[in-house]
Amino acid sequence: MTRIAIVEGDGIGHEVIPVAHQALELLHPEYDYFPVDVGYGRWEQTGCPCADADIAALKTADAVLFGAVTTPPMRDYQSVVLRIRKALDLYANLRPVKSDGFDILIVRENTEGMYSGIEEIGPDRATTLRVVSRTGTERIVRAAIRCAGQRRGKLTIGHKANVLKSDVFFRDICIAEAQNAGVEYNDKYIDALGLDILQHPGAYDVVVTTNIFGDIISDVSSYLVGGLGLVPSANIGDRYALFEPVHGSAPDIAGKNIANPIAALRSAAMLLAHIGDQEGAERIESAIGTVISSGILTRDIGGSAGTWEFGEAVLKALGNC
Ligand code: NAI
Ligand code: MG
Repeated sequence: MTRIAIVEGDGIGHEVIPVAHQALELLHPEYDYFPVDVGYGRWEQTGCPCADADIAALKTADAVLFGAVTTPPMRDYQSVVLRIRKALDLYANLRPVKSDGFDILIVRENTEGMYSGIEEIGPDRATTLRVVSRTGTERIVRAAIRCAGQRRGKLTIGHKANVLKSDVFFRDICIAEAQNAGVEYNDKYIDALGLDILQHPGAYDVVVTTNIFGDIISDVSSYLVGGLGLVPSANIGDRYALFEPVHGSAPDIAGKNIANPIAALRSAAMLLAHIGDQEGAERIESAIGTVISSGILTRDIGGSAGTWEFGEAVLKALGNC
């Protein structure tokens, strides 16, 4: 039986994930859905944000639907989502940003780079080690090339090789792999790429980059489609897969029933496509489109519908098509 782990996490995860979960239940009542409770809320209650048993539970799932977790900027607190990405070796973070006239897939390296977790705070100096390995780079660029092959066949390599030696290394491996695969490619400094994506989004197909740059460029690119409430992501490894909105736990709007559940719904659609139900994925996308066209919109995109009102409209549209 297909087993789906449902992780609400913190903040608006408790609001947007139930909507996405219900959409999955509606399309696939036969799946086995089970909750896994991790995050800051769990830490406040138990002193542990994510136990080994939680990681083990996630590993029993065919796919994980994940909301977002709060990571307080405290010295000793380890980010739960980073721990999960590493533990499940979810090395490819795929973040599609698309609308009329453009269709970009950001492929972010997800296990190393600036988020390798090798850091130290001393009395007068803090250091973070940026690790870019050959294996890590080869597998992420190969994943990006595979994606490009299923799309328009064009790869852009985002880096900062003018300053960082680790990015000279990253860029050169990416170029060698692109040449090997015979894929069309170009490369750009990540800061200039950030602006150019906003000015000429139609020029991009697949963008591959290191961990922190992918994090930043995907939040920036979400501007093109109406903000963070709309962009989903897939975290894929060779064995496990986790699907989550690009946004975080949004404490500023949590508990108010105003969060946009579209990113979570689209993450559920990506989950279905990943486990083989492309049609279900398309049904979720088209139900979202129907509801938006009918003028029901959440506040972040200019409407006044609440999370539940929007979610119920999507569930109704899903039931009708
Ligand atoms: P955020 O993505 O939570 O929020 C940024 C802004 O976007 C806020 O103004 C928020 O209200 C808005 N926003 C986000 N999602 C929205 C939605 N669905 N509908 C409407 N508006 C939305 O990022 P922020 O504020 O930097 O981080 C908040 C917390 O989330 C932090 O503790 C951070 O560590 C965590 N975080 C967790 C992530 C994860 O679990 N994968 C990813 C990003 C942040
Ligand atoms: Mg981010």
